[in-house]
Amino acid sequence: MEAQKASAGVDPRSLLAEIARRYKSGEAAISFSGAEDVVLVDMAQRAGLELDVFSLDTGRLHPETYEFLERVRKHYGIVIELVMPEAEAVTELVRAKGLFSFLQDGHGECCGLRKVEPLRRKLGTLQAWITGQRKDQGVTRTDLPHEQEDRAFSTPAHRLVKFNPLADWTSVEVWNYIRERGVPYNPLHDRGFVSIGCEPCTRPVGPHQHERLGRWWWEDAAKKECGLHAQNAIKIVG
Ligand code: ADX
Ligand code: SF4
Repeated sequence: MEAQKASAGVDPRSLLAEIARRYKSGEAAISFSGAEDVVLVDMAQRAGLELDVFSLDTGRLHPETYEFLERVRKHYGIVIELVMPEAEAVTELVRAKGLFSFLQDGHGECCGLRKVEPLRRKLGTLQAWITGQRKDQGVTRTDLPHEQEDRAFSTPAHRLVKFNPLADWTSVEVWNYIRERGVPYNPLHDRGFVSIGCEPCTRPVGPHQHERLGRWWWEDAAKKECGLHAQNAIKIVG
């Protein structure tokens, strides 16, 4: 059985403070990519919490996302560690199948090399990681707890804990937080992008369309986990 805590009524700021108390410096880190994650960084910075920040640089991000990473780094005076894929593995995939193989083969193989392997490598150095996932992001996330054992990346020798402090927050709450506090955000959000990943696999959505329709739109909703959060997809199947 997966170890997890009840989700109701958890304040993200208190949870971040608890994580900083439970783990030594360098043992827990925020996995940074988008709007939710900058809220976590902002909360941690305001509370003076020592939490590392890393981001997976797939090599396929929008120029705006790189600029956003740089803006956040300067705004908070923090280090954002960029974790890169293995050059040889990516070179081999591109040589064999070209730059857009995910359109025919599904995104699993490319995400596996550009996101999942680098994440696994990074998580091997941590005791816990913190994500900005929310329950209302899609059918694979409706049961998301605030704290869970990471079954996808733990090994018998290395038990890893995953925290989702914003699990109960809605997109509206995230954006109210960002606007009220002048928190930096990715300028693509002003052009209709809601959920932002790699450039070739992300598109804007129309009014009232679900945000995940802008990710891997050629695939089923139940398959829209790239492997970072494979544990969510496991639930759907099992
Ligand atoms: S994804 O799995 O579909 O790409 P999504 O974009 O919803 O994930 O983001 C959910 C959370 O996963 C983010 O809040 C962040 O914690 C983490 N995440 C997603 N992409 C990255 C990335 N490139 N680098 C680091 N963390 C990421
Ligand atoms: Fe590759 Fe697209 Fe996955 Fe990025 S989101 S790693 S480009 S399949």
